[in-house]
Amino acid sequence: MSNVTKEFIAGLPKAELHLHIEGTLEPELKLKLAQKNQIDIGQKSIEEVKSAYEYNDLASFLSVYYPAMNVLQTESDFYELAFDYLKRAAKNNVRHVEIFFDPQAHTSRGISFETVINGLYRATLDARALNIDASLIMCFLRDFTKESARKTLESALKHRDKIVGIGLDSDEHNNPPLKFARQFEDAAAVGLHRTVHCDIDQKDSIEHIRQALEIMEVERLDHGTNIVEDPDLVELVVKRGIGLTSCPLSNGFVSPEMKGKEVLELLSKDVKVSIHSDDPAYFGGYISDNYSAIASNFELTKEQVIQLAKNSFETSWISDKQKELYLEELNTYVANN
Ligand code: HPA
Ligand code: ZN
Repeated sequence: MSNVTKEFIAGLPKAELHLHIEGTLEPELKLKLAQKNQIDIGQKSIEEVKSAYEYNDLASFLSVYYPAMNVLQTESDFYELAFDYLKRAAKNNVRHVEIFFDPQAHTSRGISFETVINGLYRATLDARALNIDASLIMCFLRDFTKESARKTLESALKHRDKIVGIGLDSDEHNNPPLKFARQFEDAAAVGLHRTVHCDIDQKDSIEHIRQALEIMEVERLDHGTNIVEDPDLVELVVKRGIGLTSCPLSNGFVSPEMKGKEVLELLSKDVKVSIHSDDPAYFGGYISDNYSAIASNFELTKEQVIQLAKNSFETSWISDKQKELYLEELNTYVANN
């Protein structure tokens, strides 16, 4: 057993950098919106919704995940989804969050880009009242075409001030980062930050990590823990200060050991790895639950837990001044707890 308590973890100031807003759609809200918008989701109770949550790899998860988004129809639905999440984040003492959203999962079913972004953005503004600063990362769906990504970036650039960066998610199988090199170049040219999902244990994990780092020059990798298999790439992320956002509970659904050993190995090599929640409504817990899962299963020391939280601020997309303030807050918490 780790000697780090759940209370210590809950109060620890932290940044959430790997959180899909669509993955925070809790069964209660799903049923409520289904009823309001008269969408038949095939389930009528929380138990029935939860019994559909059966997955053991990325593809089987995504086949449950995307259809559920149908219940999100109006700007206020997106606002409610995001603000509900932010209230949970506040209870986990998340001080800064960079929220992923998947516009193509909504535009492809007839919802406008504006409906999505305006609802989410309004929630990020209201996050100030919860003492959280929140920003948005727009992800491309990598199993959609390059042309679809091009159009999505075009829509996003009309709202440049509402997003901090871009990401890449969905089914990685045969969808390498390089497929979207052009969109990443165009985004970099207007100052958007860049990250890419390199999901765990994929057919081409190492090649995808290599493309993302060496060719597309991303600033973070989402998951990416397979990098331990390639010491040269590990050296590269240390040299560049690249952050790796690991999500123990979602990893636990697709791998027996939630990649805890890899996270510890990366920490010991000074890689800026940090802990996040991915799709908390689907994987059984929010950010503090993810910290607790890895801390208890791998007997993390308090120092290791603190380092993970520091890494989350250090690799976040905020000003150096703001980073300093959060790290000071963290140090004060540690000194008093
Ligand atoms: N990987 C890829 N796509 C996703 C994920 C993930 O972890 N979560 C939501 N969409
Ligand atoms: Zn993810």
